[in-house]
Amino acid sequence: MPDTITLQVTRYRPESESVPTLQEYAVPMREDWAVLDGLNYVKDHLDGTLSFRWSCRMGICGSCGMTVNGDPALTCGTFLTDYAPGPVRVEPLANFPVIRDLVVGIDDFLHKLPEVKPWLVREDAATIDDVEFLQTPGQLDAYKQYSMCINCMLCYAACPVYGIEPDFLGPAAIALAQRYNLDSRDEGAHQRLDVLATDMGVWACTYVGECTRACPKGVDPAGAIQRYKLTAAARTLLPWGKR
Ligand code: SF4
Ligand code: FES
Repeated sequence: MPDTITLQVTRYRPESESVPTLQEYAVPMREDWAVLDGLNYVKDHLDGTLSFRWSCRMGICGSCGMTVNGDPALTCGTFLTDYAPGPVRVEPLANFPVIRDLVVGIDDFLHKLPEVKPWLVREDAATIDDVEFLQTPGQLDAYKQYSMCINCMLCYAACPVYGIEPDFLGPAAIALAQRYNLDSRDEGAHQRLDVLATDMGVWACTYVGECTRACPKGVDPAGAIQRYKLTAAARTLLPWGKR
């Protein structure tokens, strides 16, 4: 194993530079170092001006997503040894505006997310504080997979539809809508229908499946979207469809 590996890192200050550039840094090659450790080495020892996001270092916070050698990835879960002898190209997530270096703006997602009401909706909200809503293990299993989303945005970076149609609601927002639609305690599915069953909702998805391949948490947003297409079709077209 070599002593060092080269990171080729995007540097970009949109307010003063017209195009991004790649800057190379040699970082120690350690068996237990993730790409994020390499970036932190750069920040601490080589160049304190490099900007990137991270927090938990354990695949939970969802903030360290970047493009590593062309693929969207959590940099805390992507190891330098997998790219030996290098170089490793580290770029910001695709399909998002760059704020600085490896930091992207996710305002678009944050504006879209509330549209699908990603919370438990009850018709009689007054009862929520007074009643215990029991759930069987089977009822939990119905939505648990979709509840694993950490909002890392890798699925949006991987999605070719979102790349050309930024109004597309997108994989994670739809998977999160399904997380609540399938929850036995929720009564808001009919409220989400008007947002999900639209040209910029599930019908924009062409089922490329890149979102599911990119997802580090096994959420399967592509599956959530296809499943909801059946629900949406039934509820929209069939006279007995429940609204
Ligand atoms: S669905 Fe997966 S890839 Fe998309 S934001 Fe959630 S955890 Fe990340
Ligand atoms: S630092 Fe939190 S998911 Fe990578």
